[in-house]
Amino acid sequence: MDVSGKPREKWGSKLGFILAAAGSAVGLGNIWRFPYLTGENGGGAFVFVYLLCVLLIGIPLLLNEVALGRHTKRNPIGAIQSTIPNSIWLVGPILCIAVCFFVLSYYSVIAGWAIGFLYTNISGSSITFETIQETPKYILPLLGIFILMTIWIVQGGVSKGIEKASKILMPLLLLIVVAVAIKSLSLPGAMAGVDYYLNPDFSKINGKVVIMALGQAFFSLSVGWGLMITYGSYMDKSHNIVSAGVWVAFTDTLVALLGGLMIFPAIFALTAPAEIEGVLTGGTTLVFNVLPQIFDQMPGGAMFGAIFFILLVIAALTSSISMLEVPVSYMIDEKKWNRKKSAWVIGGFAFLLGIPSALSFGAVDGLSAFKIFGTEYNFLGMMDTVFGTFSVIIISLSLSLFTGWAFKTDRLVAEINEGSSFSKPIALGISMAQVWVFFIKFVVPIVVGVMLLTQFGIINI
Ligand code: PHE
Repeated sequence: MDVSGKPREKWGSKLGFILAAAGSAVGLGNIWRFPYLTGENGGGAFVFVYLLCVLLIGIPLLLNEVALGRHTKRNPIGAIQSTIPNSIWLVGPILCIAVCFFVLSYYSVIAGWAIGFLYTNISGSSITFETIQETPKYILPLLGIFILMTIWIVQGGVSKGIEKASKILMPLLLLIVVAVAIKSLSLPGAMAGVDYYLNPDFSKINGKVVIMALGQAFFSLSVGWGLMITYGSYMDKSHNIVSAGVWVAFTDTLVALLGGLMIFPAIFALTAPAEIEGVLTGGTTLVFNVLPQIFDQMPGGAMFGAIFFILLVIAALTSSISMLEVPVSYMIDEKKWNRKKSAWVIGGFAFLLGIPSALSFGAVDGLSAFKIFGTEYNFLGMMDTVFGTFSVIIISLSLSLFTGWAFKTDRLVAEINEGSSFSKPIALGISMAQVWVFFIKFVVPIVVGVMLLTQFGIINI
């Protein structure tokens, strides 16, 4: 039962939570953001730091969010309100709801590009990526199509809609990634790419690499968005939070690593040596500009391109439905809207807010390039910095401080204990619960706090 006395919607099975949460985690973050950040931040060195961030910071915060959600059976704001009402801690969850809404708006633009690519690939049309990006009559309908698909799944209800979609989409996704990675690895010259990607050059690790890796871990795991609070709130007490959380993190990391394995061997195999560096550091355009050209040079390239972009749209969809779910569940819980109305109204506003992002790649000059504090942005890039990076870091910090210092950690340990043996000593008389409490109280706030201070230029590492 939830506060209103109605039974709360629930996942149909334990696998339902894992599939939906992993579906949320696996998205453009793995396939588009992870490879381009890896290319910009030193290859294997970035991958190494990223893995540490997932393990030491991401997983403890993931367990924290799921436990908080299941304990309170509420959306992020409701979760905090029902524990320490009307406190400063509300800032975190309010930001969560805003962040999911704001990121959904531009995430859908990038997903729209992928649909556009798919269309040009399959139809053999001569429209280029630049044309799709720059032309309102292409990009706005693509944005609309993607948001409509998202709304359509979310309005179907938690287990019926999201779970059904995840059950079909996730295994399909993994299969396609593995197939493309195998193809990429079999190209002559591919091993140089594997070396670049998986053999860390530790001298390349610096403050920026660590910060980007930590930020990417939050983005990719869907941690720091309140999403895992919402999905945790639909979870049954008998389910094991620890194993579910570890499975989600494992799947997300596996797909990110496989995503890199699709891309880096192919780049090294198919690019002239003098041009490789430029391709690797090509930034946000890595996937959208370079990959289709590489696929074009491969035997059966059009098919590979098509498969790749189908994969990207599927991955983006299982993430976008989870982003929409957070504000939708808030409106259902707190404002008593029904699910249909919430999904359509919020999705509609996300479309409207997506318009300036969609037009910020050449369609409207004023949105495509402007300066804030001396740094040049386009509208989408600004949204990603403010909401996709800074806000998520602030939320993660506030949620770890909330659990570690304001709310009793014992209560969440007890919550996690239901369905798992969290407090049973595993080695040297120490239990996972003790390690987790130490991380939530000290390691996470200190590391994330330092990261935040460097982001604002207050300290320099
Ligand atoms: N984790 C998703 C990705 O990697 C992005 C996302 C974040 C989705 C938060 C939902 C909520 O693309």
